[in-house]
Amino acid sequence: MCAADYCALCSTREEFERYPSNVVQPVSTSYIVVCRGPNCRERGGLGLRKRLSALLKGEQRASLVGYNCFGQCDFGPNLAFYPEGAWYGGLIDVDDAERVVKHATCGAPMRSAALELPELERSEHLKNIADLIGTIERDRARRHPWWWPF
Ligand code: FES
Repeated sequence: MCAADYCALCSTREEFERYPSNVVQPVSTSYIVVCRGPNCRERGGLGLRKRLSALLKGEQRASLVGYNCFGQCDFGPNLAFYPEGAWYGGLIDVDDAERVVKHATCGAPMRSAALELPELERSEHLKNIADLIGTIERDRARRHPWWWPF
């Protein structure tokens, strides 16, 4: 859902902009939200996702989710932690995937500083991620879950 969609749900732009910046919901696990956009892919995002996917097999404390684009394409490959609400970019080092998993599961520090997203974009992405993860968690709770790409 983009800003325009949220604006459609709100009666005014001002109402949309008053949405809280930390849109989080209770979740059963920590999520690593990885950009699948073309710019991040070109910068090594696919390899990062594959390494994360392998590392997270059987891991109960964290799950991997794909996302279209955070709008931070120059800094990719990018990902976000949810519900933490922190973005990191430039994850091209060989041990970055391990570091990401340790951060998601144990709170270990990341090597670089978090990306600073403009507040409106950050809020919009957090809402989108919350919607996406809400759907995933509802699906998981079903007796016969739908197939999900991660
Ligand atoms: S392609 Fe990854 S942030 Fe845009």
